[in-house]
Amino acid sequence: MEVVILPGESEMAELAADAIERVLSAVDAPVLGLATGSSPLPTYRELIRRHRENGLSFATARVFLLDEYVGLPAGHDQSYRRFIEREFVDHVDLPITSLSGPSDSAEGETSGPEYEAIIADVGGVDIQLLGIGSDGHIGFNEPGSSLGSRTRFKTLTGATRSDNARFFDGDVDAVPRHVITQGISTILEARHLVLLAAGATKAGVVAQAVEGPVTATVPASALQFHPHVTVIVDEAAASSLARAEYYRETYRHKPGWQRI
Ligand code: F6R
Repeated sequence: MEVVILPGESEMAELAADAIERVLSAVDAPVLGLATGSSPLPTYRELIRRHRENGLSFATARVFLLDEYVGLPAGHDQSYRRFIEREFVDHVDLPITSLSGPSDSAEGETSGPEYEAIIADVGGVDIQLLGIGSDGHIGFNEPGSSLGSRTRFKTLTGATRSDNARFFDGDVDAVPRHVITQGISTILEARHLVLLAAGATKAGVVAQAVEGPVTATVPASALQFHPHVTVIVDEAAASSLARAEYYRETYRHKPGWQRI
């Protein structure tokens, strides 16, 4: 796993946007896997800026969401489809029909295989952005999720519902209990994984995921199996990493063509 420690969110967003831009320029029909939540927001703002100022185009891209709440009315402001439309898709030239989420085809557990078939049809995900939950989840694969899991229906932990209450005016009871999420093994099929984490509250779990044992108790630790993962963190989120100095040194001396 490559760990890149950067001073703050704008540097993190620039590097993640560079990785996406590289895919957009290298691939005819690029397939982007996008996450919701707070962590990728600066990256979306940077991509929107590059679209407006430099003409970066998403016209031939496909976008797949990692996960979606189950049980919110269609078009609910906090559904992950609306979130990604509002924060990203509405501001670039991605055709709205090129955006897919895991509950598009059917409700709940039946839609997993259909969603995976749509992703497979377009050749799989070229680059997947990820955040990490304070309990170590990626997508909504909560602790204990099978490392071999595929897209399916899941129940959120109380910790995740409390974390996400901030998107529902602080009302934890308004946060749905159920989601449909890409599985860990689905996520691992993307060709490049870029995990973003900022802030001291993520420090412990980032260290567990990157330097701890691979365990279903910390689902993000499964990323250690993937051949091309870039973990982009700020100083606060890096503060519990035992090998932080080595990661800094590695990145500092990286040849430019290998920047991400
Ligand atoms: C969102 C997702 C989640 C979040 C994670 C971190 O689509 O799948 O795994 O990435 O909960 O959320 P933030 O970035 O809000 O801390």
